[in-house]
Amino acid sequence: MERSCPVLVAPAMDVGMFEHTATQANIKLLAERGIYFAGPEEGRMASGLVGRGRFVEASDLLGHIRLLLGKNGTLAGKKVVVSAGGTQEPIDPVRVIANRSSGRQGFALAQAAVDAGAQVMLVTGPVSLKPPVGVELRPVQTAAEMLEAVLETCAGAEALIMAAAVADFQVKKPAEEKLKKQDGIPKLQLAPTPDILQKVAGMGKKRPKVVVGFAAESQDLLENAARKLEAKKLDVIAANDISASDAGFGVETNRITLLYPDGSREALPLMGKEEAAEILISRLAALLEAA
Ligand code: CTP
Repeated sequence: MERSCPVLVAPAMDVGMFEHTATQANIKLLAERGIYFAGPEEGRMASGLVGRGRFVEASDLLGHIRLLLGKNGTLAGKKVVVSAGGTQEPIDPVRVIANRSSGRQGFALAQAAVDAGAQVMLVTGPVSLKPPVGVELRPVQTAAEMLEAVLETCAGAEALIMAAAVADFQVKKPAEEKLKKQDGIPKLQLAPTPDILQKVAGMGKKRPKVVVGFAAESQDLLENAARKLEAKKLDVIAANDISASDAGFGVETNRITLLYPDGSREALPLMGKEEAAEILISRLAALLEAA
């Protein structure tokens, strides 16, 4: 009888047993029959040997399950680019201009897109988060690097979600050597960084069908978000009040209002960033369906 559900195997055994020809031949045969393998991972075994054979970590196993169960979701077969985290602009080889973005909302969006079956490319500034299983990771540091990675990954993508907190200013000429205290307080000359969403708007026909922006505001939230929605030619913008202590940068929750070009709005209550991501991804799927 044919099974009707996906089957995942997470093997764990001593390295010699895993690498054995018989084991490898059986794994190959099972994989050909559509069985999904998670791990094993490299590391030290109970026997003291080092190699592939360790049981995949619990959080990764969950990630593999989500990837597998999402395969037929609402974004199945769609390529989605998500940017996350804050960019860092170098001052000298050790110092940077950074911001408070943790990357949590962007990473949650990438996970929610994987859950919906999308092929996800995650362009991220430096963060201390584990990327969701199944995403293609593009780590970047500066706004200029993020621009390059976003434009490259957007080619052929159906959607772009710009959740990254991109630096607006960069140091015109970062020092090649570490700036020394005894040389006095440096005068940093700043220059604007490229506006990534403006560049994406200029992609013309090659632009992803649906482009989602974020507006992190500490005042006049909806007015500023509406202005950015239009200026950056977005299909939806998630306005995020960062003046509240329970929403925005560095916290687990967000209070988001979605604004659309036809003037309609959807105010979401305070919720976890994961839940907000799920809602945003379902709205994105609906927009793609209608596009
Ligand atoms: N963004 C971008 N490129 C930049 C700056 C921002 O693509 N150089 C994107 C962000 O990822 C976000 C949206 O534009 O999706 C709005 O970002 P925000 O920082 O709120 O707006 P800015 O355009 O930078 O304007 P300001 O900082 O003056 O509010």
